[in-house]
Amino acid sequence: MPRYSDELIADIFAANDIIDYVSKYVALTKRGKDYMGLCPFHSEKTPSFHVNADKQLFHCFGCGAGGNLVQFVMRSENLDFVDALRLLADNAGIQLPEEDSSYNDERHKHRQRIYAMNKLAARFFYERLTADKGGAKALSYLTRRGITGKTITVYGLGYAPDSYDSLLNFLKSKDFSEKEITDASLAVSRDGKTYDKFRNRVMFPIIDVRGNIIGFGGRIFEESELPGGYKPPKYLNSGETPAFDKGKNLFSLNLAKKSDSKRLILVEGYMDVITVYQAGIHNIVATLGTAITENQAKLINRYASEVLICYDMDEAGRKAVLRAIDIFSKAGGKTRVVKLKDAKDPDEYIRKSGAAMFKKALDEAVPSTEFILSVIRLNHDLSETDGKIGFVSEAAAALSSVRDSIEVDAYINKISDETGIGKEAIYTEYRKHISYPAGKGVQSTFKTVQTTGKAIRSIDKPTASFDAQRRLLNLITGDKHIYDAVKDIIKPEDYSPGIMQELAGRIYGCRAEGREPDAAEIMNYFSDDEMSMSTASSVFYELSEYKDKRASALSNVKTILLEKNKSEMRKYADDINKLAELIAVKNKLEKLELTWD
Ligand code: CTP
Ligand code: MN
Repeated sequence: MPRYSDELIADIFAANDIIDYVSKYVALTKRGKDYMGLCPFHSEKTPSFHVNADKQLFHCFGCGAGGNLVQFVMRSENLDFVDALRLLADNAGIQLPEEDSSYNDERHKHRQRIYAMNKLAARFFYERLTADKGGAKALSYLTRRGITGKTITVYGLGYAPDSYDSLLNFLKSKDFSEKEITDASLAVSRDGKTYDKFRNRVMFPIIDVRGNIIGFGGRIFEESELPGGYKPPKYLNSGETPAFDKGKNLFSLNLAKKSDSKRLILVEGYMDVITVYQAGIHNIVATLGTAITENQAKLINRYASEVLICYDMDEAGRKAVLRAIDIFSKAGGKTRVVKLKDAKDPDEYIRKSGAAMFKKALDEAVPSTEFILSVIRLNHDLSETDGKIGFVSEAAAALSSVRDSIEVDAYINKISDETGIGKEAIYTEYRKHISYPAGKGVQSTFKTVQTTGKAIRSIDKPTASFDAQRRLLNLITGDKHIYDAVKDIIKPEDYSPGIMQELAGRIYGCRAEGREPDAAEIMNYFSDDEMSMSTASSVFYELSEYKDKRASALSNVKTILLEKNKSEMRKYADDINKLAELIAVKNKLEKLELTWD
């Protein structure tokens, strides 16, 4: 949430007009109450992007992106809430208090200090490559691996000296305390002693999309042994700090985002990225020493419509690919898998076979479903009946998560040809897996769909209740009488837990205090992620024209409460007394009328 006072935020909003600002990015034309244009957040040919001057909100009916002006800036400039606010303040010539009490977020300052330390450290490491005896060894290691001087500069690679205090002393001389340096994960403290974390390693700065150095990876480059025969790990990464979250960032995305490719190659290692980049293929990123997370998948989807997973092709690598496919299917991305022959990783492949062959392998990447089927195939002997049956049954299960029925059909044909088992039999097997498990509860309302190759999030078959909640909140926001008529019948806690409940709480709150809910202001509370912004703005941006608002309010109230009643009945299926109660509630609900003053 914002750390500035509400008044200041309101001033910044008042000083910037959403239509003016958005017009810099999107050609808008007025249609009715709204301005419309082509959505800047997904690719489309007919406009579904709306901006409304009264509400000071934008909303895209194609991909679900929505919010107020600050949130538009957050998305279009890739900034966090506070930085977006600052940009708008700047834009309007409003001075934001720097050192004032309203700007004392310790976390923010702390993070800025860490960025500053990291930047100094990166420069320090970089210079050591050529200024240090150990540095010379590190440099010759990189050269031996084919890394050019230019690439070293592009990536800002460096050398952490074989010393316990060289970086520490350097940063102290720049007025950073030992505590700050350890907090930045550049030093570690043990038994009351503080010493450099990275020693005698080649250093890889990790940079976020905004250009901040958020952390480092460090690789050993010669066999070394610590006292006691202890071998240091090949890579050492910065620990979690207020500036560094391994699960939310990607190595080299700052460079990859500049390439205009719609595809992004995902690899496992820093060295893979660097070698491929050096070969002229710039749309490549790597995770930071962990398996890919949903947050990283979402981040990737923001920059690419298709991901090419290019992991090691050993047993562990294949498992990692399957995990990654699964994560992307949850986050809603289209994936293909690159198969590299006779090399353990992309770095080795490029050096053995060259960039042209690597590009060819990228073009031949197989759709993720095909990859999954090929892994299943490996586990079965298709020359035996048992093997065929095992393969078909596992393959049918895997196909159940494919959304496109034409695709399913094509794969079933292929499996049938391959095994000689009839298509109908495979379909029957497949259908066993697609029925929804009973009592699964509320289904996810948003899902990502693929249109013209670009992954976008769209509002997909919302449940009846979710839709009704959205409409009802929209009606309450626009009309005080509707609030008065429904407030005692449906309370905020009757809405779906999470964003809907919080929205209801805020909208009801304004009405209870006799204020008109201000959509753009309430939106500020939902700045944490795109999903919340999108849901919240869809509430404020309901477009249907109500023929009869009162009738619509009543029918929405009924839908919400009856759905709730239904799910409670499922929950208490074994409790006769409770069920009787619920049935009585249901009968009353069906006859519900609202009273209007
Ligand atoms: N990794 C790590 N810690 C380790 C080993 C690996 O964090 N002890 C992470 C690093 O991010 C590394 C990635 O896992 O880049 C892939 O590991 P690996 O394939 O072993 O390294 P490469 O990047 O291929 O490096 P190299 O070719 O120099 O061995
Ligand atoms: Mn490698």
